[in-house]
Amino acid sequence: MDSEKDFIEKSELVVSGSSKWEAPSNIALVKYWGKFGAQYPQNPSLSFTLSQCVTQTSIAYKPKENQLSEFSFDFTFEGEPTPSFHPKIETFLERIAPYVPFVKNHHLAIESSNSFPHSSGIASSASGMSALALGIMSIEKAGNPSMSEAYFLKKASFLARLGSGSAARSIQGPMVSWGVSDVIEGSSDLYGTPLSSALHPVFQDYQDTILLIDKGQKKVSSTLGHNLMKNHPYSATRFEQARTNVKLLKPILASGDLDAFVSLVESEALTLHALMMASEPYFILMHPNTLQVINKVWAYRKETQSALCFTLDAGANVHLLYPKSEKDVVLKFIKDELASYCQKNQFIEDQIGNGAKKL
Ligand code: DP6
Repeated sequence: MDSEKDFIEKSELVVSGSSKWEAPSNIALVKYWGKFGAQYPQNPSLSFTLSQCVTQTSIAYKPKENQLSEFSFDFTFEGEPTPSFHPKIETFLERIAPYVPFVKNHHLAIESSNSFPHSSGIASSASGMSALALGIMSIEKAGNPSMSEAYFLKKASFLARLGSGSAARSIQGPMVSWGVSDVIEGSSDLYGTPLSSALHPVFQDYQDTILLIDKGQKKVSSTLGHNLMKNHPYSATRFEQARTNVKLLKPILASGDLDAFVSLVESEALTLHALMMASEPYFILMHPNTLQVINKVWAYRKETQSALCFTLDAGANVHLLYPKSEKDVVLKFIKDELASYCQKNQFIEDQIGNGAKKL
C-alpha cells in the first residue's frame, strides 16, 4: 500500500496554462459515517458513481506575482464571484499544500458550476472537491508530463479526500470503495479504489432517481455528524457492521441478487439516520415526506415484486435505485405517486456512471 509520502510533489514547479474537468457526485450503498485524523474513514464505504449530477471546474494557473499572501485565487460559482466559498477553498489548499506545494506559488483562477441546482440539498462537496482536485493534478502533470494515468487518478482521489471524504469516491466509476477492507483489492484509507471484481450486468446501468424532498441548506453539516461518532455509544458496533456489509455486498454485486441488495442498501440508509438520532446531541435530517416516500416504496414493492429501493445521504432527499428494465414503470410510479412529496414536484433522473472527464 502507498503511504502519504508517495504523494509529495518535490520538483519546483513553475507552469502556466488551464484545465477543465467534469466530476460526478456519488451515492454510497455502504455509508462512510465517522472519521479520524487527516480525513481517514472509520470504516470502508462503497458507492455508485453518478453520471448526470456533476460539477464542472476550470482552473487557469500562472506563477504568482505577489508573494504576500499564502494562497492567491479567484473563485466564481455559476459565473458570479462567490466569497462565501473562499474559506472552504482556503482550508482545502492548506490541507493539500504539503503534497502539491506549487499551489503556494501559483495564482489560480477557478470557475465552477453544477448541473444540479446548488440549493437542491444534493451534496455538491463530492463532485466539487473531486473536480477541483483533478484540476490541481492537471497543473502537476503540466510540470511532469510523463506522470502515469494510474498515479494521476490515485493522487486526485487522495487530494479530493482531503477536501471531503466522499469526494475520494468521485474520480472513477462505476463502483468505488474507500477505506481498507479485507475483501477489496487495492483498498486504502488514503484514496478511493474502483471495484475490480465482477459487477453483474443488472447493476451496470442501474438507475438513481433523486427526489428533492427538502432543498434547504443542511441543518447539521456532515463534518459535525462525523465528529459525533467519536463518542457515540454504538460506534464500535457500527464500524464493524459496515466492514461486514462491504463483505456481504461484494458477492451480491457479482451475482445480481436484487433481494439481498435491497435489504442491505435500505438497512444501511436507515442505520445512518438511526446513528444521527442516537448521537449526543441527537438530530433528525429526515423530513415527514421522506418517511411518506419510504412507506410508499415498501407498499409498491409488496404489490409489484419490483426491485425498487431507497437510500439516503445526510439529508431529507431520497435516492431511488432500480434496474433499467423497470425504468418506464418506476418513473410513472414516481410521477403519479411520489413527485407530490418533492419540493415543487422536482426530481432528478440519474444513473450509474463511469467517473470524471477532462473537457
Ligand atoms: C452520509 O464526505 O460530506 O453522504 O468528509 O466531512 O466532507 P466530509 O463528509 P462527507 O460525508 C458524506 C457522508 C454520507 C455517506 C457517504 O457518502 O458515504
